[in-house]
Amino acid sequence: MTDSPPTVVCLGSLNMDLVLQVQRVPAEGETVQGETIRYVPGGKGANQAVSCARQGARVSMIGRVGPDHHGTTLCDALAQDGIDVRNVATDPHEPTGVALVMVEATGLNRIVVIAGANGKVQLDEAQLAHCLSGAQFLVMQFEVPMAQVLLAAQVARRLGCKVVLNPSPAKPMPEALWSLVDVMIVNETEAHFLTGMSPDTDPQVAAEVGRQLRANGVSQAVVTLGALGAVATDSSGSTYHPAPHVQVVDTTAAGDTFLGVVTVALARQQSLSASVDLGIRASTLCVQTLGAQPSIPTLAQTLRNTAVPAWSHL
Ligand code: RIB
Repeated sequence: MTDSPPTVVCLGSLNMDLVLQVQRVPAEGETVQGETIRYVPGGKGANQAVSCARQGARVSMIGRVGPDHHGTTLCDALAQDGIDVRNVATDPHEPTGVALVMVEATGLNRIVVIAGANGKVQLDEAQLAHCLSGAQFLVMQFEVPMAQVLLAAQVARRLGCKVVLNPSPAKPMPEALWSLVDVMIVNETEAHFLTGMSPDTDPQVAAEVGRQLRANGVSQAVVTLGALGAVATDSSGSTYHPAPHVQVVDTTAAGDTFLGVVTVALARQQSLSASVDLGIRASTLCVQTLGAQPSIPTLAQTLRNTAVPAWSHL
C-alpha cells in the first residue's frame, strides 16, 4: 500500500431512502401491515462514494440535490465521511431524489426511485476536468442522465483517470461508452440485460458474461452473484469468489459497498482477484445491517472479517 490515499471522484445519485421493513411485500391489490419506517441516506452514487471513503480514499462527489431538508441531510452525511461535496449542486426546481425501499424478513429488497434532482445533473466540462485531474478513478452508475455519464467518461479518459462503471439500474449503453470503461461491475440483472446471459447460479456463466463484457471493450469485469459471491474476469482469465453464509438483514447497498472496496483496492495496486476478495468481505458485513450508508463498513472492519471461503480459478 502507498502512503498517500487513493483519489476517487464519484458522479452519481444522492437519495433519501425511505426504508420500510415488512414481513413480505404486498401482492397486487393487497395491503400489508409494515413493521418499521426509517429515513436513511442512500443513492447508488452517494453509497459508492461512502464506501470508497470508508476504505481510506480521498473522495469528491459530483451530483445534484433539491433545495430541501433531504438535500442538506444527504450532503452533511457525506461530509461526515470526509467526502468533498463542493460539486454537489442544488437544483432550485427539483426535489432531492427519494427511494422507497421495502425490505422483507428474508433481507431481500424492492426499490422504487424518484430521481428528482438526480435527473437534472448537468456537468460543467471545465469544472469536471478540474475535479478529475489527479484523480485515479471515476466511479459512475446510471441514476444520473446518460449523456452526463458519457461526457464524464470521455473527460476522464482524456485525463488518464480510470473509469469504474456500475450500469445500474440497467439501461441500454451508448456504443461509445463501452471502450471508455476500465472496470465494469454488474449484478445478475444487469448481466442479463447487457449480454442476454443469466449467470444467477452458475459461476461459469458469469465468467462467460465477463468475457462478453471484455469483448465489448471493458478491461476488467466483475459479475456479482448475491449470496453466491462474484466472478472476476480480466486478461489473465476468470476467478470465482464464493461468499460465506451469513444471516441477511438487508441487501441494500451491498453492491455499492462491494464496488467502493474493489475500486480503492485497485487504486492501491492490488490485483483484481485480491480486490474482489476484499469486496466480498465488506459486502458480507453490509448485508448484516439495515439501511444503505449505515451498513457500509470501514477498511478496519473489512480487514477483520477474515471468514471468507478461498477463491479459485475457473
Ligand atoms: O443501491 C442501493 C441504492 O439504490 C439505494 O440506497 C437507493 O437509494 C437506490 O439508489
